[in-house]
Amino acid sequence: MEHRIAHLLATSKNTIVITGAGISAESGLRTFRGASHADLPADMQALWKEFDPMKLATPEAFDADPAAVSRWYDWRRLGCLAAIPNPGHMALAELERRAASRTARFTVLTQNVDRLHHKAGSTNVVELHGSIIQWRCTSCETKTTPGPDPLPQFPMPAPCCPNDSAAILRPDVVWFGEMLPFEALRAADEALESCDLFLSIGTSSVVQPAASFIQVAAQHGATTVEINPEPTPISRLVDFSLRGKAGEVLPRLVDRR
Ligand code: OAD
Repeated sequence: MEHRIAHLLATSKNTIVITGAGISAESGLRTFRGASHADLPADMQALWKEFDPMKLATPEAFDADPAAVSRWYDWRRLGCLAAIPNPGHMALAELERRAASRTARFTVLTQNVDRLHHKAGSTNVVELHGSIIQWRCTSCETKTTPGPDPLPQFPMPAPCCPNDSAAILRPDVVWFGEMLPFEALRAADEALESCDLFLSIGTSSVVQPAASFIQVAAQHGATTVEINPEPTPISRLVDFSLRGKAGEVLPRLVDRR
């Protein structure tokens, strides 16, 4: 099966990959669902358990307790800044380079906010859920990129609006209940129209609209592939399901050309 998929990767004209938290798991970042926290140091276990990611990733949670939500996101931001891309990210960057060399398209649509695809060298990356590395002012929307140290205060007054006491920084991510960035959705729709190969990697495929992209791709005639150590709701729908870690399966596909 891997041989067949490697061949498809080497010959497709328009490949789309959608990634989720699973592809960054081997870089030491937490997935959202079903992850064990037993491997974390005790203080980090307590921090992660203290917060419910599904309850914190909402505008309502931020409005109710901006200090707690900012603290959780800043802790994750520092983890993302420190993380390095793993062989799965590197393999996708290599596949993009190879596609470019034969004037084929290769697009990564990611639900991840960690910027690890960029760090690995991927250039055609669509961030569906924004980025945790950037923050923005709740008043004037100015974006800012905080440095490598923890934010000095939670919530953080927005430096662009020093005279507006209500202006604070929030992570430049998409929360549940918020619209995905228009440009990201437009880019995804446009790529999906002519996609001939679609891979879903490291996502539980339960959050829309990302979860339904694979069906849209299939309707356009694309061959569909899932790479995940666990079954997901889309496993039955795809043409090929590879059970394994992205950081192990993807380098093998790259090597099999
Ligand atoms: P989830 O935590 O829901 O799912 C992670 C998936 O990665 C699971 O299906 C795991 O089986 C799989 N996985 C774990 N380790 C893996 C590995 N080494 N290689 C490949 N797969 C692996 O994360 P997402 O699907 O990304 O949204 O979650 C989607 C969205 O829900 C997130 O972007 C976030 C979250 O709440 C917002 O915050 C808006």
